[in-house]
Amino acid sequence: MIERVYAGKADDWAEGEQRAVTVGEDSVVVIRYEGQFYALKNLCTHQAVPLLGGEVADGKIACEKHGGKFELSTGKARALPAVKPVKLYQVTLEGGSVLVGVL
Ligand code: FES
Repeated sequence: MIERVYAGKADDWAEGEQRAVTVGEDSVVVIRYEGQFYALKNLCTHQAVPLLGGEVADGKIACEKHGGKFELSTGKARALPAVKPVKLYQVTLEGGSVLVGVL
C-alpha cells in the first residue's frame, strides 16, 4: 500500500497554487482552488502531457498543449480534445498538513 505523501502545510499554499508530488510512481498535480485541495494525475489523457501549470478556472484545469479540460472534483474530461477522465487522488488535511494518497 502506498503511503500518503506530504505536500506542505495548508497555510503555505496560496489560492490557485499548483505543485507536483510523486505518489508511488506517478506524478500528481495538487491544486488549491477556492480554498479546497484537489489532486489529479499529472498527465493529460489526450497525449500524455503534464497538466501542471495549466490554467485553472471554473473548477477545471486546462491542458496547455491543446486546451483539453478536466474537472478538478471528478477528473472528467470537459473539453475536447480530451475525452478520457484523468485519475484522481485523495487529499486529506491532518494537523494542517496536506497529504496526498491513492483514492
Ligand atoms: S495533450 Fe492535453 S489536450 Fe492534447
